Amino acid sequence: MADRHEVSEAGAESPAVPSLRWGELPEGPVVVLLDQTRLPAEEVELVCTDVPALVQAIQTLAVRGAPLLGITGAYGVALAAARGFDVEEAAVALASARPTAANLGYGVRRAAEAYRGAAAGGAGPQEAAAAALAEARAVHAEDVEASARMAERGLELLGELLPGGGHRILTHCNTGALVSGGEGTALAVALAAHRAGELRRLWVDETRPLLQGARLTAYEAARAGMAYTVLADGAAGSLFAAGEVDAVLIGADRIAADGAVANKIGSYPLAVLARYHHVPFVVVAPTSTVDLATADGAGIEVEQRPGREVTEFSLPHRQGAGAVPGTGVAVAPLGSLAYNPAFDVTPAELVTAIVTEAGVVSPVTRERLADVCSVSRWR
Ligand code: MRU
Repeated sequence: MADRHEVSEAGAESPAVPSLRWGELPEGPVVVLLDQTRLPAEEVELVCTDVPALVQAIQTLAVRGAPLLGITGAYGVALAAARGFDVEEAAVALASARPTAANLGYGVRRAAEAYRGAAAGGAGPQEAAAAALAEARAVHAEDVEASARMAERGLELLGELLPGGGHRILTHCNTGALVSGGEGTALAVALAAHRAGELRRLWVDETRPLLQGARLTAYEAARAGMAYTVLADGAAGSLFAAGEVDAVLIGADRIAADGAVANKIGSYPLAVLARYHHVPFVVVAPTSTVDLATADGAGIEVEQRPGREVTEFSLPHRQGAGAVPGTGVAVAPLGSLAYNPAFDVTPAELVTAIVTEAGVVSPVTRERLADVCSVSRWR
C-alpha cells in the first residue's frame, strides 16, 4: 500500500527531498519515495508499506532511473523481509517490474543473497531481515560514492576532450540526484563542470513522451543554478548544425559486454548526430549498469510502454494521486497505433567513452570494458 503526503511546493529555495529513504513507522518499516510523476510542480512523498506498492511506483515511474531502481530493488527486498512477506516472491516481482535497467536486478540480487546467506547460516527471520537491510544500505552508500567518482572522472575527461572550458553540453532524460543516492551520473558530471566554472550551457532535451528532461533535469538544473535551456527532442539536430554543442553526456540503463548502451529513447539519434558533427558522445554509468552476461546490444530487452503515453498528453500532477503519466488529453485520433519503446540501443562504435566509477573506457571495446569492470570493488 502507498500513501502520499505533500512535503512542500517545489522551488529553488526549498530543501532538497531525497529521492528515496528508509523509514520506520510505529506500524513497521516503509520505503519513502519522492514521487517523480508530480515534479516539478510539487514535492510529494510516496510512502510504500509493501512490495506491490513499490512495483507500482517503479512501473508508473514515480521512482525511476537505473541507479535508483537498483537501490529501490534492494530496499524492496529488505522491506519484504522486515514485514514478513515472502522474500523470494518479492525478489521476483521487484526484479521483473521493468526489464531494461540492469541495476534493478543487481540491487534485488544483492539484498536477496544477503538474506539467503544469513538464513542459510542459521539466522532467524529478524536477523536475516537485518542482513538484507544492511546490504540495501550498502548498495545505497556505494551509489553515493560511485556518483562522486564518476563526476571527478567525467570532469577530467571533459577537460581532455574539450581543452579551453566553456562547455556547452547536451543531455537527454534525467540523470541527476533524482536517480541516485548521490548526485547521479551524466548530470553529476555537468554539475561538476558548473561548479568548476566550466559549464557555459546545459542543453536539456525535453525527452518525449514522459518529459524526464523538461520536468526533472530542468528542475535539478534550476535548483543548482546552472545555465540551462530546454529544447524539443527534434530541435537537437539544428543545435548541432549551428555548432552549439561541444559534447553529449548521457546515462545508461544497461551496457552490454560489447559496449552497446541502452538508454532513454532518443539517445541513439543523438549519437548519430554527434558522430556526424564530430562531437564527443560520452556515457556516464556505474559498473552496476554493465551486464557482461549480455553479449551485445541485440540481446538487451527494451521495455515497450503503453501507446497512450504517446497519443495522449498530460501533466501528470494535475490528475491527482495515483495518476499514470501519459493518461491525459488525446493528441492523436482515437484508435491511432503508437510505437513507444522506452529505450534505444547505441552501438559501441558511436560512443566516445564510458565513464564509470572504476575508470574510463575509451575507446569502447569489449576488452577494455571487461578490464574496468574487473577492477570495480562492487561487482
Ligand atoms: O524510463 P526512465 O526515466 O527510468 O529512464 C531513465 C534513463 O533512461 C536514464 O537516462 C538512465 O536510467 C540513466 S540514469 C543515471
